[in-house]
Amino acid sequence: MPKTSTYDFISRVNHWVIALVVIGMIGFGLYLAYGGLAREDRGPLIAIHKSIGVLVFGFGVWRVLWRIVQGFPASASAMPAWQETASKFAHWGLMAGTLLMPLSGVLSSVFRGRAVEVFGWFAIPAQTEITWLASLGSATHQFVGYGLAALVTVHVAAALKHHFHDTDLTLKRMLRGESQTGPS
Ligand code: HEM
Ligand code: HEM
Repeated sequence: MPKTSTYDFISRVNHWVIALVVIGMIGFGLYLAYGGLAREDRGPLIAIHKSIGVLVFGFGVWRVLWRIVQGFPASASAMPAWQETASKFAHWGLMAGTLLMPLSGVLSSVFRGRAVEVFGWFAIPAQTEITWLASLGSATHQFVGYGLAALVTVHVAAALKHHFHDTDLTLKRMLRGESQTGPS
């Protein structure tokens, strides 16, 4: 049973922080992989990508736990059963992707024998090289990355469809905490 009819302030902050950073990180990652960067320019940028990614993991764990504790509110308007199911899969998929991207990135680095320095604050130490594990990490990073980019696109399209076509409170309650009875 949903405990709430809208998203509380903390849920909204969590959502938008992760939304902006994850979209930024997908763009950043694609630029690193396909931006045609020179070797010497790529190194420092990869270090920044990795550092932000590790911080995303920390914030992502908190964000997912908060959602589990709060529960999901019921949908803002009546919709067909397939859309209810699709939205549940999409929301869990987005959260899983948010955690899998940093995990796979760290896996691919540390088992390739490279420590992950997080802005010089702390480091995840390098491990003895295990090539297959490092390769599994980078393949996962790549494919989950593409999957997440596709899922985010569908997710944003769905949010816009609810707002402009169905004109329901789906987007408004994520922006301002609105519910049928008013803002929370
Ligand atoms: C929310 C977190 C993250 C997101 C959304 C993200 C996203 C991406 C994407 C979309 C790519 C391009 C696809 C690819 O070739 O793999 C990429 C590349 C890369 N990512 Fe991440 N990443 C995240 C975190 C991390 C972390 C924590 C690390 C390492 C500790 C990391 C290391 C890398 C590296 C080294 C590349 C370049 C791969 C290449 O050029 O072959 N990423 N990232
Ligand atoms: C501009 C981009 C985005 C917009 C406009 C947007 C909009 C929304 C809206 C309106 C909801 C409420 C859906 C409902 O009540 O059924 C929602 C929920 C959600 N969104 Fe997004 N979103 C965006 C980006 C993202 C990104 C990048 C992620 C994660 C990678 C994400 C993850 C989630 C999750 C997990 C939920 C379920 C509720 C929660 O725990 O926050 N969203 N989004």
